[in-house]
Amino acid sequence: MGKSLAQNIAGKGIRLSVYNRHITGKEEGIAEDFVSLHTQYTGLQGFDDISQFIDSLETPRSILLMVNAGPAVDQVIATLLPLLSAGDMIIDGGNSHYKDTERREVALRENGIYFLGVGISGGEEGALHGPSLMPGGSKKAYDNVGRYLESIAARDKNGRPCCTYVGPQGAGHFVKMTHNGIEYAEMQLLAEVYHLLRYYLGKSPEDISNIFEEWKIHGLNSYILEITIDILRTKEGGELLLDKILDAAEQKSTGGWTVEAAFELGTPLGAVSEAVMARFLSAEKEQRLKAVNVYSNGKQAAQQTASPNFADKLKKGYEAARIINHATGFLLLKKASERYSWNLSLSEIARIWTNGCIIRSALMEILVEVLMKETDILQHPNMVAMMSDRVEDIKTVVAEGLGAGHALPVLSASLNHFLGYTTGLSPANLIQAQRDYFGAHTYQRVDRPLTEHFHTQWK
Ligand code: 6PG
Repeated sequence: MGKSLAQNIAGKGIRLSVYNRHITGKEEGIAEDFVSLHTQYTGLQGFDDISQFIDSLETPRSILLMVNAGPAVDQVIATLLPLLSAGDMIIDGGNSHYKDTERREVALRENGIYFLGVGISGGEEGALHGPSLMPGGSKKAYDNVGRYLESIAARDKNGRPCCTYVGPQGAGHFVKMTHNGIEYAEMQLLAEVYHLLRYYLGKSPEDISNIFEEWKIHGLNSYILEITIDILRTKEGGELLLDKILDAAEQKSTGGWTVEAAFELGTPLGAVSEAVMARFLSAEKEQRLKAVNVYSNGKQAAQQTASPNFADKLKKGYEAARIINHATGFLLLKKASERYSWNLSLSEIARIWTNGCIIRSALMEILVEVLMKETDILQHPNMVAMMSDRVEDIKTVVAEGLGAGHALPVLSASLNHFLGYTTGLSPANLIQAQRDYFGAHTYQRVDRPLTEHFHTQWK
């Protein structure tokens, strides 16, 4: 990704020096080789020696780190620090945890060094041709380098850069983390839809790719859908490559971090949470294979019994689940903005997610407008209309799919969220009574002011 970004930056005519840190001892010459492969960029220089690299930079220096999140970022910062001068800037473009970013920003500020935590989405291709950029940190720091970041970003439909100053402290990395959380649920949702089409309706991968192609044309366009169509058409030796890939999903950390943030902020995030858990469960391949021999969950028996137009209902159920996933993701951002006084603009975040990033989609374009008027997506009149038109379909899909023995963690978590969200009287009064019964935790009453708390001697 670093190399792709370097080409993108150099291609914009920005003078750039590159350095590859030495870890294994085999990195000698990597930076110089990279430069000799790209002689078309006249302002590009490569260095093996970190001091020479630093000396080659115009002051005040701006250094973009593309390093794996975690201790490696601290190590690189520690190496750079003695070589830098007050007023220089470090930009972390990795998937760092927002709390690490905040810690680093404070520590570097004490040394007179600016620090920006920039979420970068779009993978290799995005990095090369225009990623979505989510910079956070001090506004003054952003003002120093914003024009460069904006010049390399993807463009939205109006030609504006998919890059905006997101907010102070770790806001940029928090927003990128949330992007990834939404990404996890979007991926899992489509995996569940594919699974139902293939193993409940008995469609071939080729048929499914054609169905998805239709969906893409009719309102469901997204980058994740596009790559899934390609995946469903990719053959190796005449056979579907997908069928040769081990069904054990890996993950780094960002999905789990998003769920942790939801816990900390006390906001529901069932779809993302279930997407993370589904990856964990998938990784238990050995146990799953043992369980297959022990249990029969009736999949085969149900295969013939799909209701008429199930594929159409699935499309609408999938759309509903995607709206719910985005609604809860943006509510997490709203909660974080309130808790940390970040003043996030949710509509602007949706706008920079309309191109360049992994979760870009036709829905995201709609959300830019929706979020201008209503931060709770599910309360916007257009979304109310869309959800009302789809709720029966998602209910049918989940009920039928689960009944037929197919695991649908994110479709069902999305539906559960929606049903809970649209319930005026939840059974949480019973939870409160139970808490008060065994722990004297007290409860509020519907017939008394909410400032008053009550305890009952239950027995
Ligand atoms: C992006 C991606 C990118 C990366 C994910 C993969 O926005 O470009 O999200 O950051 O592909 O972090 O994450 P997992 O390995 O956890 O699936």
